[in-house]
Amino acid sequence: MKINIAIDGPSAAGKSTIAKRLGAKLGYVHLDTGAMYRCTALKCVRSGIALDDEKAVCDMLKETEIVLTPEGGVFLDGEDVSLAIRADEISMAASKVSALKQVRADLVARQQEMARAGGFIMDGRDIGTVVLKDAEVKIFMTASPEARAMRRYKQNIEKGIETSDVETIAEEIRKRDYDDTHRENSPLRKADDATEIDTSDMTIDEVVDRIYSLALPFLQKEE
Ligand code: DC
Repeated sequence: MKINIAIDGPSAAGKSTIAKRLGAKLGYVHLDTGAMYRCTALKCVRSGIALDDEKAVCDMLKETEIVLTPEGGVFLDGEDVSLAIRADEISMAASKVSALKQVRADLVARQQEMARAGGFIMDGRDIGTVVLKDAEVKIFMTASPEARAMRRYKQNIEKGIETSDVETIAEEIRKRDYDDTHRENSPLRKADDATEIDTSDMTIDEVVDRIYSLALPFLQKEE
């Protein structure tokens, strides 16, 4: 049986990049749970559903298919929205819908179902504390707001996504950090048994190696 690896932390701490690399190294599948909240937000914005109308958002979700492919594609009701969900407006909207209890219940159930077979690296905010409480390896990844804003800015440019300047991104990151850590339902927090890694001054390879070394004892037990 393969293990599961949970990676939590604030936005733009490098979770997805690291999870993707680690997935390739281990032959594990990376599941970016933030993409599911982003899909929910995108559909709300497109259909004019208020981001705080819990019932309307949940009813909409019941009729919504979100597919995350092992290659990193994100499909909302069959449409490839991999880029559309990364717009700054959708980041803020995703933070809002992610505060709704029933929305979380719906998406968490989907995530738990996906990871049942093991072999997943799941990144998000509540993976170690709620979604995969039994994950063999739990990481809490952080980085300074400045380092995170610069990374997000560069990433937007590389991907050709319309982007705000670094200062605006840093401001949005601070606001989202505050909202994500202060919300009532499953706020972002480090699981008691998670290992904290501050990636501000680490290279991608160094972070991947660190997590790999934490996972190694469990991987050696895999059949
Ligand atoms: O990781 P991200 O920036 O793509 O996440 C988008 C939003 O979704 C973020 O503001 C917090 C929320 N989120 C969450 O509440 N729980 C998760 N497991 C993943 C993301």
